[in-house]
Amino acid sequence: MIKAKQKARTLLCVLIFIGGLSLASSLSSQGMRGTIKKESFGKTTGGEQIELYSLTNKKGMEVSITNFGATVVTLKVPDRSGKAADIVLGYDTLDGYENGTSYFGATVGRYGNRIAGGKFSIDGKTYTLPKNNGENTLHGGIVGFNKRVWKAQEIASKEGESLEMTYLSADGEEGFPGNLSAKVVFTLPAERNELRIDYTATTDKDTVLNLTNHSYFNLSGEGNGDILDHVMTLHSKQFTPVDKTLIPTGELKNVGGTPMDFNSATAIGKRINENDEQLVFGKGYDHNWVLTRAGGGLSMAAEAYDPKSGRKLEVLTTEPGVQFYSGNFLDGAKGKGNKPYPQRAAFCLETQHFPDSPNHANFPSTLLKPNAVFHSQTVFRFSAK
Ligand code: BGC
Repeated sequence: MIKAKQKARTLLCVLIFIGGLSLASSLSSQGMRGTIKKESFGKTTGGEQIELYSLTNKKGMEVSITNFGATVVTLKVPDRSGKAADIVLGYDTLDGYENGTSYFGATVGRYGNRIAGGKFSIDGKTYTLPKNNGENTLHGGIVGFNKRVWKAQEIASKEGESLEMTYLSADGEEGFPGNLSAKVVFTLPAERNELRIDYTATTDKDTVLNLTNHSYFNLSGEGNGDILDHVMTLHSKQFTPVDKTLIPTGELKNVGGTPMDFNSATAIGKRINENDEQLVFGKGYDHNWVLTRAGGGLSMAAEAYDPKSGRKLEVLTTEPGVQFYSGNFLDGAKGKGNKPYPQRAAFCLETQHFPDSPNHANFPSTLLKPNAVFHSQTVFRFSAK
């Protein structure tokens, strides 16, 4: 009797052991390594395998990022009742990102925003870039960093989960000089609802650089109407006015008394249709604000609040400017879950150096020299009330 019991116990132990082994192997074949979940996001048309990484924390936040374009694919954040929703526009599958023209969630480079006439000079030498936005170059050219395959790896983080993406942009790629080594680290702290992005870059020749993230936020949840009732604050006393091709004129203009003044919280839709030349040129807000900062380091750039869900986004950055884009060129094309994204279905807050800086000596410089290390940081912080 005792022997039979022992036998049964041994058999049970063996079964549990085998079960454990097969569970572990199935987890590893699904790509569970470290703490970040890794799964296949399919293959590019060129046959390259692409992954989707999901970071989670203890406060109900979840972010998924693909190494195609170092792109934020989903960003789930709780509302005032604790219910999480995905608050960024995007696509369900890789082909959406391969074919898309809106830069949803992407890392933008080598030069975020526009360079006039696709031309700039360094030390008297002129560089010519492909034009992909009328007469100008937008967001790094025809195949910008948003359409490149990045190398991804989870890295050690004391605060939570960190995913590092690296990309080597060859000398002459899209017309830019110098082999540029770019690194973007996404961190989701375990105890705080924020996504931190750290950008680092080095080059072997003088070049120009402007890196940003192009997430489109709708704090009510992506695909949930427009963002005209979201209330925006921009910590800025000046903006860089543009011509009708959205190239800065070079002036730093005071926002006071204009629809560009967001120093006190104002609904995005309140003045967006005013007959103001800048709003007409941008078809709404599509401008660079010069940030008011207390010294160097991270400082508060913008705050957006959605009265419906209670979600609030704060954007902090070490960059000198922010492009507030009110999704004016969205045209109803379908995104996640086949939902249409009409005009102004989302807004972007692209922390950056000013557009067309290589052609404006009075703007903060975007020149990067060999032996210098570029570093910048942006934090998207979330709360609900
Ligand atoms: C630009 C817009 C552009 C959008 C999507 C923004 O950064 O300023 O003009 O339409 O990106 O490409």
